[in-house]
Amino acid sequence: MNAINEQLQWFDAGPVESIPKPGARRLRTNEGDIAVVRTSSGAVYAIGDKCPHKGGPLSQGMVFGEKVQCPTHGLVVDLVTGIAVSPDTGAVSTYRVRVESGRILICMVPQTAAAPCSGTCACAQAA
Ligand code: FES
Repeated sequence: MNAINEQLQWFDAGPVESIPKPGARRLRTNEGDIAVVRTSSGAVYAIGDKCPHKGGPLSQGMVFGEKVQCPTHGLVVDLVTGIAVSPDTGAVSTYRVRVESGRILICMVPQTAAAPCSGTCACAQAA
């Protein structure tokens, strides 16, 4: 993983065109793997890669709409909120993403529905 600007905590996750529409790939970090997901509309999301059910790799799942289905047992996660779609339960962290000059930039501060971006991290202030 290449740092664009470590002070701002935005990391370069590579060219957006490296991920099929729709598709996903795994980004390895010291804090755990992140699934970087591109939808058929071209939107890019980043969520924790570990399924809330039994840890399946969401980056290997099927992407449809704004959701990804875990390949292990089929749990569906909303890419916007990181929350499992009912009737399943659980959630994964989400990460702020922006695409700039064809590169995917990810704020490495994880967020959850219960603890959304406080707006105080350097990324939020620089956005
Ligand atoms: S590990 Fe993902 S659905 Fe079971």
